[in-house]
Amino acid sequence: MTTQSALITVMVAAARKAGRALTRDFGELENLQVSQKSQSDFVSQADHRAERVARTELARARPRYGFLMEESGATAGADTSNRWIVDPLDGTTNFLHGIPHFAVSIALERDVDLVAGVVYNPISDELYWAEKGKGAFLNGRRLRVSGRKILAPALFATGIPFAWHRDHKLFLRQLEKVMAVAAGVRRFGSAALDLAYVAAGRYDGFWETGLSPWDMAAGIVLVREAGGFVSDINGGTAMMASGDILAANDSLHEPLGRLLRDCR
Ligand code: IPD
Ligand code: CA
Ligand code: CA
Repeated sequence: MTTQSALITVMVAAARKAGRALTRDFGELENLQVSQKSQSDFVSQADHRAERVARTELARARPRYGFLMEESGATAGADTSNRWIVDPLDGTTNFLHGIPHFAVSIALERDVDLVAGVVYNPISDELYWAEKGKGAFLNGRRLRVSGRKILAPALFATGIPFAWHRDHKLFLRQLEKVMAVAAGVRRFGSAALDLAYVAAGRYDGFWETGLSPWDMAAGIVLVREAGGFVSDINGGTAMMASGDILAANDSLHEPLGRLLRDCR
């Protein structure tokens, strides 16, 4: 076990409280015998509810910090150095379909630097947190990225851009290329958890394009603090601006990046 800083304690409390709201609504959804439309309305209400809970908790603990939240957008704080980046429900499609793989994701950005991240799956009760310079943890256990050094036994995660998205065809080429040389590719539907799983050494790497800052902010801190590498697909540092991300252990980051870039 490790001692959490005051900052992580605040973030964990917010993630757990938002997670409890999601768990309640997830249970309700299973009992709803309603049309597809009202199910998705219900999910979007659950999304907003969890965001309000997280926001209230974070604002109470750090009233001067700003916010970037998926549902309510950007709010400037009196303290212009610090802002929370929050996805209250990452894995909405899973939630809607009754698949218990979704998470609350909360990061703290300080002067454009990501300094802390919490990702919480309330159904499995897996709580990931990391703070810059202090390591990454899962329910108190220190995390380390995988040690696999070659592509053949490696398991990667990804996300699939919609068919209408400009990156869809490129993605299909990338998938073909990676599947031809690696042990497998998974698409579990929560980018925040995909990154957390890379930090935990479950996946050897993850890539996706077209993401938003709240999908990846907390996960980036987790992977870095677990000893992994995070970049955009070009190997640069523009992930948060471009929405393209490539995260892997230090041995596989370059070979996976090369495969993906070769598909252009
Ligand atoms: C989505 C998930 C998914 C990823 C999508 C995201 P949401 O977030 O992270 O894994 O492939 O690009 O939009 O909509 O469930 O919050
Ligand atoms: Ca998301
Ligand atoms: Ca979301």
